[in-house]
Amino acid sequence: MITIKSAQDIERMRAAGKVVEDTLKLLESSVRVGITTAELDRIADAYIRSQGAYPTFLNYNGYPKSVCISVNEEVVHGIPGKRKLRDGDIVSCDVGATLNGFVGDAARTFPVGNVAQETMDLVRVTRECFFEGLKYCRVGYRISDISKAIQKHAESHGYGVVRELVGHGVGRVLHEDPEVPNFYSPRSRQRLEAGMTIAIEPMINLGTARVWQLDDGWTVTTQDGKPSAHYENSVAITDGDPILLTCSEAIL
Ligand code: MF3
Ligand code: CO
Repeated sequence: MITIKSAQDIERMRAAGKVVEDTLKLLESSVRVGITTAELDRIADAYIRSQGAYPTFLNYNGYPKSVCISVNEEVVHGIPGKRKLRDGDIVSCDVGATLNGFVGDAARTFPVGNVAQETMDLVRVTRECFFEGLKYCRVGYRISDISKAIQKHAESHGYGVVRELVGHGVGRVLHEDPEVPNFYSPRSRQRLEAGMTIAIEPMINLGTARVWQLDDGWTVTTQDGKPSAHYENSVAITDGDPILLTCSEAIL
């Protein structure tokens, strides 16, 4: 069931989203060669709680940490641990925060030191994919219009679009209807309406779209071991321009 949010609900979602946005900025400035992903998790957890919010992912379906940190060939849902970041890595940070009964959900991929140009291009294009999809975040378009725009941009660069994981409605809980795939699906005929809030999250691979699910029950990796990038924002649909709930950047 898709829930429609009131103007006041959307204000609250922006407040939760601001905590997520600021946590991601803090993670970006904390990323350096030698830091472990567990240390990044602790930094994010402490900041989220300092804002009176709760780290949404902690214990969600049994997830054991507060944020997801996925390095290089890890696509999403990497569990923070002893892995140390190395020069040339890319690190995807996915953050959820619950504040006043509403969830914000967003992700970014950051470079660590000197990253290969082809990998930097993947990171840039993955972000661009989000903004291509955002162009269709208007009343009257369908979810599949967002999906198509993302897929087209990624595949025009020869990248693999992950099929096993999708974006989603977001609101009083992390995952609401509808699904928001990053590839065309005939099932996604739902039209956008004012008050819908969705998380759009392209997960784009440098090589094959194929992924493995690791035995830890969470981590998803590319099958060919090539890098993957992730970029996500929570977005509110309005009668006019969409509202970015987890990003203060001007819409380009
Ligand atoms: N942004 C991710 C998602 O929407 C994060 C979920 S991780 C989980 O699926 F641990 F909370 F499941
Ligand atoms: Co999400």
